[in-house]
Amino acid sequence: MDPGGAISNFRQGAFGILDGLRWSGAQRGEETVLEDGKLTINDSRTGKDYPLRIQNSSIRAIELRQIRQDPDEFGMLSYDPGYTNTASCTSRIAYIDGAKGILRYRGYPIEQLAERCSYTEVAHLLLNGELPTRHELEIWNQDVMAHSRVHENVKKFMDGFLYDAHPMGVLVSTVAALSTFYPDAKNIESRSNRKRQHVRLVSKIPTIAAYVYRKSQGYPYPEPNWDLSYSENFIHMLWNGTRREPRAEHVKILGRALDTLFILHADHEQNCSTSTMRQVASSDADPYVCVSSAAAALYGPLHGGANEAVLTMLDRIGSKHRIPEFMEKVKAGEQRLMGFGHRVYKNYDPRARIVRNVADQVFEITDRNPKIELAMELERIALEDDYFIKRKLYPNIDFYSGIIYEAMGFRPEMFTVLFAIGRVAGWLAHWEEFMADPEKRIARPRQVYTGQDKRDFVPIDERLERAQDEVL
Ligand code: CMC
Repeated sequence: MDPGGAISNFRQGAFGILDGLRWSGAQRGEETVLEDGKLTINDSRTGKDYPLRIQNSSIRAIELRQIRQDPDEFGMLSYDPGYTNTASCTSRIAYIDGAKGILRYRGYPIEQLAERCSYTEVAHLLLNGELPTRHELEIWNQDVMAHSRVHENVKKFMDGFLYDAHPMGVLVSTVAALSTFYPDAKNIESRSNRKRQHVRLVSKIPTIAAYVYRKSQGYPYPEPNWDLSYSENFIHMLWNGTRREPRAEHVKILGRALDTLFILHADHEQNCSTSTMRQVASSDADPYVCVSSAAAALYGPLHGGANEAVLTMLDRIGSKHRIPEFMEKVKAGEQRLMGFGHRVYKNYDPRARIVRNVADQVFEITDRNPKIELAMELERIALEDDYFIKRKLYPNIDFYSGIIYEAMGFRPEMFTVLFAIGRVAGWLAHWEEFMADPEKRIARPRQVYTGQDKRDFVPIDERLERAQDEVL
């Protein structure tokens, strides 16, 4: 197994990181042997060899610390901005093979889950490790629906935001505020207490998301309807009593489409927001502030905010004949083709294929979003262009998801909130796994200090004037 080409990346990275060092792995021809063995690092400064144990195709970074020129030195660090080749944990939740375009949750291919499961079934799978039996699913669904109301004061809290507040800002703040409503959540050592928080968060996020939307449109907050499914209740809370209320026969199709999108977004191993979840949880913070921090990380346009950015980009391009001009800017490094490229996928994102099919289903009951033609033409041109071929840049999930959401009637600012609804199950699954991990420690990376050496204090009147941009 070589998730995302980790072995070959490590080989290249090792030379860059450990300048002056040479390493050799147990090798069979050109192939590195993947079973456990030893990686011997030779320090050319001292001539010493350091045999490091290989486990799961990785070495323990702490073992590098023994590499030093004299005993008083701190020891060797690995330097990895953006954590491009650093595993921060072991995990049994999601498996990605970025080179082959494979994604599995708990071993099940994403294609099968997206086609055959409801979102709550997948949330159960992520949180508990197994697909629920019929009876377990019934209990889980009942539990989730029964916790979907929020305290009246949450509504008052939300009322404090301006009508045009960005929905992600409101979501991040409101989820953090839940921490004050559920002080019992601080008892993170108790597994049963943690499970109570899983239910609360999975069930309340769509309610908060729907209220964010209703507030932006000036509509009152409706109560959840427990008799409906998770996604159909979300549709009810969004549009009940508004001019957008879908016809009864369309609710099932829209609900199924939302379920599929939530499933596709539910987990993606150690991405920026999930790593943030684990990072904040490592200080034993409660799950509400952890989820709020993860949602804040998701907000950025390079992560979950990309679906909103895709729509802004399509609006800017406007029509097919302006694509070549836009592509020139992308290739000159002046712009990014949003919704393209991925840290892990160097092949077609398997989720993007499924999203294309969801688009066709949704367009059968909504007006066809004309932006889909523009996006498909952009994709066609990009996939034939050397710039994208050489860098292995393919459409990711966010290239098409925003177009579907817009056809359903959401404004682009809501897109990342919809992403967050699905991802909550994944964040919580990682929280649960991390809390039970015997190797759990507070996350505290090291740095390579490149600043000033020791210097003496200069009194304020003796300091030299300098141009503003010289500071730092
Ligand atoms: N458009 C144009 N060039 C790109 C793009 C893009 N979307 N993505 C990467 N590149 C180029 C980049 O300029 C660099 O070229 P060079 O080697 O000449 O400097 C090369 O490809 C490698 O890019 P990188 O920035 O080093 O790659 P990364 O792994 O650090 O970044 C990424 C991954 C997703 C942030 C990036 O591909 C990107 O900015 N994409 C657009 C934003 C986007 O769609 N994000 C959603 C990701 S999927 C949803 C999620 O899981 O969050």
